[in-house]
Amino acid sequence: MSNTHGRVVVDVEQADDIALLADFAALSAIGATPAGGVERQAATPEDGQTRAWLQAWLAGRGFTVAQDRVGNLFGLLELVPGAPYVLAGSHLDSQPRGGRFDGAYGVLAAAHAAERLRRHYAAVHDRPRYNIAVVDWFNEEGSRFKPSMMGSGVFTGALPLEQALATTDVGGVTVGEALDAMGARGEADVFGENARRAVAAYAEIHIEQGRELEKAGIGIGLVDSTWAANKYELSVLGSQAHTGATAMADRRDALYGAALVVVAVRELADRFGLDLHTSCGQLTVYPNSPVVVAREVHMHLDLRSPSDELLAEADELLRVRLAEIEVQADVTINRTYAHTWRGQVYQPEGVELARSVATDLGLASVEVRTRAGHDSTNMKDRVPTVMLFVPSVDGISHAESEFTHDEDLCRGTQVLTETLARILQGAFD
Ligand code: GLV
Ligand code: MN
Ligand code: MN
Repeated sequence: MSNTHGRVVVDVEQADDIALLADFAALSAIGATPAGGVERQAATPEDGQTRAWLQAWLAGRGFTVAQDRVGNLFGLLELVPGAPYVLAGSHLDSQPRGGRFDGAYGVLAAAHAAERLRRHYAAVHDRPRYNIAVVDWFNEEGSRFKPSMMGSGVFTGALPLEQALATTDVGGVTVGEALDAMGARGEADVFGENARRAVAAYAEIHIEQGRELEKAGIGIGLVDSTWAANKYELSVLGSQAHTGATAMADRRDALYGAALVVVAVRELADRFGLDLHTSCGQLTVYPNSPVVVAREVHMHLDLRSPSDELLAEADELLRVRLAEIEVQADVTINRTYAHTWRGQVYQPEGVELARSVATDLGLASVEVRTRAGHDSTNMKDRVPTVMLFVPSVDGISHAESEFTHDEDLCRGTQVLTETLARILQGAFD
């Protein structure tokens, strides 16, 4: 890594911060919910409006806008003809009744950072070594279509394109159909056949979605590793019956079985303490009539831990408990892996680069571990990656009350800008 320590490449002015916050307010108005959040699930009309807003923003500043075959949206800025790109971004899609910061802040910060770099290089004689591109990864949230981090998964080869396009939402609409309806399915890989060679590095900034930075009173988190996750899809199968007439002894109540699973999963977390997070979600009850004992419950289950070993131990206990529940509720439980990743480190050179940037800007920073998945979780497996966090008030996320202070948004964007400037100048070479 070349030594760029001490030299700040891009000066940020107050007008830049004002522009960032104004754009964030405009973006947050799309799909806005009454309590300050947004609802823009992947490939819904609101996601489409948000993408159109970004496309207009990028095109209006001279970026070339392109979409790939899984709906990842790019804004390319060629500063050095033929050179590889440094990519920066996050995701514009949200959870249902989600927060307005999760993902959207990272895309906007990347767009502003790239625009600052465009202006910088228009004003100086120096040429960078790389081009820069902004990305809105398709369907990071994994709420409407599973799995999460879909667009970056396809981009990095972790998820086959055909599998992603064939994935359906609960109404049976495929990703391919939803992308077409939104006009978001591109015809080719944006970086050509050699996408992975044409992209030299990746950077992402995100809200922490936790309390560590706030507790420490530090504005910049340097993500050095990620928790492991095991996500499952479960079908609990019973028999449909009359809620009044059927004798209790004759019932095979899928909802009762599912309820036992929900409790078991919570008790698992209680048993392991801070190092295991568990949850059940998106329960679909069939036939969901007030007068029918459910024949089936389809549900998602999520186990996460900083330790692969602990996760494996919890997983084994869950397997045993699910077998007991099958007997207790007289149901069958079919379980498939929906998505899994191991606890992994981010490249130390990325952490060091971001740390020196923060230091040179006079900002305190600290290493943090991400519990949530991010598109950078995929990208770091392919190219040198920097992942930055800014504080989340009270650690709230995936909720309308998610909040990050303006100063933190601005500071984070400044660190991202400078980090990208140094990567463009060869900090990872
Ligand atoms: C993705 O955002 C995840 O943490 O599952
Ligand atoms: Mn996110
Ligand atoms: Mn999220």
